[in-house]
Amino acid sequence: MRRTLEANGYDVVEGETGAAGLRLAQSRPDVMVLDLNLPDMSGLAVCRAIRGGAATEGVPVVFLTASDDEKTIVSCLESGASDYVSKPFTPSVLTARVDAVVRTHKAEIARRRHTEELSAAYAALREARAEMVLQHRLTGLGVLAAGVAHEMNSPLAALIASLQFALREQGPEHEAALADALTAAQRIAELVKRMRAIAGSTDRNVRRIDLRARVEQICAAFESFPARVTIEGPALNVDAVDNEVREVLTALIENAVQATQATADPRVNVSLWQEGDGVIVVVDDNGPGIEDADLPFLFDPFFTRKRFWKTTGLGLAIAQAAARRHGGEITVDGRGPLGGARARLRLPVVADASAVGDARALLAELRSDR
Ligand SMILES: Nc1ncnc2c1ncn2[C@@H]1O[C@H](COP(=O)(O)OP(=O)(O)OP(=O)(O)O)[C@@H](O)[C@H]1O
Ligand SMILES: [Mg+2]
Repeated sequence: MRRTLEANGYDVVEGETGAAGLRLAQSRPDVMVLDLNLPDMSGLAVCRAIRGGAATEGVPVVFLTASDDEKTIVSCLESGASDYVSKPFTPSVLTARVDAVVRTHKAEIARRRHTEELSAAYAALREARAEMVLQHRLTGLGVLAAGVAHEMNSPLAALIASLQFALREQGPEHEAALADALTAAQRIAELVKRMRAIAGSTDRNVRRIDLRARVEQICAAFESFPARVTIEGPALNVDAVDNEVREVLTALIENAVQATQATADPRVNVSLWQEGDGVIVVVDDNGPGIEDADLPFLFDPFFTRKRFWKTTGLGLAIAQAAARRHGGEITVDGRGPLGGARARLRLPVVADASAVGDARALLAELRSDR
């Protein structure tokens, strides 16, 4: 058998017993030729064990049987064998059967690999499509927002000034109505300002920024909140658009601080470090965390679960757009080590100039259109 198989291009490894056969099966040979009668156990048991093992289940088995009575053959095939050869056999029958089984086995492996590659490609495609849709929406929103914001700014400013004047000069009979109108106008002004931010800061100069110092500044702005905010990490420089870095850090830290408002002993921790050619800023809080069902929508413009006066649901959308313009990325986990959510920002140490430039081109385009 060895001579016949080797003459046909096979490398043959032999085992004397069923146990040895099971060990050999672990190395996943292309085929195992198994005798039905072995010194330590039955060939059928060996075959069943091969089928049952996670590492060996795909290894094809060809039985050597002393008889070709129907019962023997059926039990061979039922134990999971691919084929059988009855003794005595000629070299050409053995080779033909083994070849056929190996061919099928290899085709199966190729088919499986192909299916895996296809489903990986499909998953990548779906992801790319989702990404494109989001990008498209952000760009569309950015263009719309910048235009609308520009048009609304002056009349809004006039409206607010008039309301403030009226509130000062009028008698008390209209005071409540005027105050409400002023609040509403200010709310619109806030929304307009936020929508403008999606298209990016108008100052697009890339400057060297001490990231840790920025984090400290922004955390200090949230001092009036009850959360105990800690910062860990060294001084780190990045080259980026300063306003946008502030915008991103503010969005993440603000969300964390707001999330802990109903927590006893509220805590927020910001840590930063360098990783390869990027810097990482991680913001953890001990708020309620984020439900799995919400995770796909966090970066969607206007997605919010909050009921605060100033809430627009644009925080993460604006921050993600700004991070991406720098060649960076924000990811959010629903549950982090402090028990609440964990937001993670990655920025390249040196902002991707072409990405930052694109945004500049977009803004220039908007202005020239007007
Ligand atoms: N640290 C966090 N803990 C719990 N939920 C969070 C956290 N960060 C974000 N979220 C969830 O993601 C939503 C979207 O966040 P995003 O910052 O985009 O908008 P917002 O905070 O609701 O509004 P805005 O940022 O305009 O004030 C939030 O409403 C909240 O439900
Ligand atoms: Mg927010």
